Amino acid sequence: MAGAPSPSVVTRGLPDRYAERWRAPFEERLSSELRPGVRILDVGSGRRPTLPIDERPSGCFYAGLDISESEMLRAPAGSYDEYYVSDVTKRVEAFKGQFDVVISWQVLEHVKPLEDAFENIHYYLKPGGRMITQFSGTFSIFGLINQVVPSSLTPWALKHLTKRDPETVFPAYYHHCWASAIKRALKDWSDVEVIGRYNAASYWRFAKPLQKVYLQYEDWALRTGRDNLATHYLVDARKRALSADFRQPGELPVNRMPTSLPSTCDRQLTRSAGNRPRDLHGA
Ligand SMILES: C[S@@+](CC[C@H](N)C(=O)[O-])C[C@H]1O[C@@H](n2cnc3c(N)ncnc32)[C@H](O)[C@@H]1O
Repeated sequence: MAGAPSPSVVTRGLPDRYAERWRAPFEERLSSELRPGVRILDVGSGRRPTLPIDERPSGCFYAGLDISESEMLRAPAGSYDEYYVSDVTKRVEAFKGQFDVVISWQVLEHVKPLEDAFENIHYYLKPGGRMITQFSGTFSIFGLINQVVPSSLTPWALKHLTKRDPETVFPAYYHHCWASAIKRALKDWSDVEVIGRYNAASYWRFAKPLQKVYLQYEDWALRTGRDNLATHYLVDARKRALSADFRQPGELPVNRMPTSLPSTCDRQLTRSAGNRPRDLHGA
């Protein structure tokens, strides 16, 4: 359960913040990183890579990492220069310092422990590299419901209440997905921004009076700075740059992509532009 509002949500009668294009703040931050040759890892990219092919800069290397092979196989042809079937909480040693940017859209609420995911993302970034991610909050209304409703019922409930395709609903833990816990987990990063977003009215569109009451609560949480009650978090942080003092003579801040397979990666696959995935393990 990702908790992302449907783009079709009608904004009439809703607070001004609902008029903002939902992905705009995320995309603005990412756009400043889209230099030629940039190396991007998309965590939990699944069937819909966060950055579409036609928006990538020239020479961009775009890797996907997802726990589900079948999700990634559904992505449009040519979506990934390489993709990896792996749990983001499991370290892939060979990714050490390989990426300029790690992005992730509506994934980290599905991950436990969240701290392990952040540590691994940190490990995969080059010094000075940037993580930009958005995910749902533990204390959002849908987060709370999802934590008490049996996971087998969640796809059914979302289908009937929000018209969401059950195939796009994944088990979610909402582990430590609130502002102070996120900041604690990122204490060793630099330039940390944890931006709470308050946007869950679409879950109540089946009952307008309930939606009205809910919005009073959501407005109150925003107005009174209840950061831990945000429905979503946009998180932007950098791995600290290597100080020139710590670099060995001749050492480059950029590593080359390894040619050997990562030993802790469940399976590593590559997909060529021709759309035929290749399992490098030969399985
Ligand atoms: C809600 S979908 C989001 C997919 C895509 N980012 C998007 O915007 O459409 C969540 C994705 O996270 C993946 N996922 C769930 N748990 C994961 C984990 N522990 N490690 C890596 N990927 C995971 C799922 O397989 C799924 O593709």
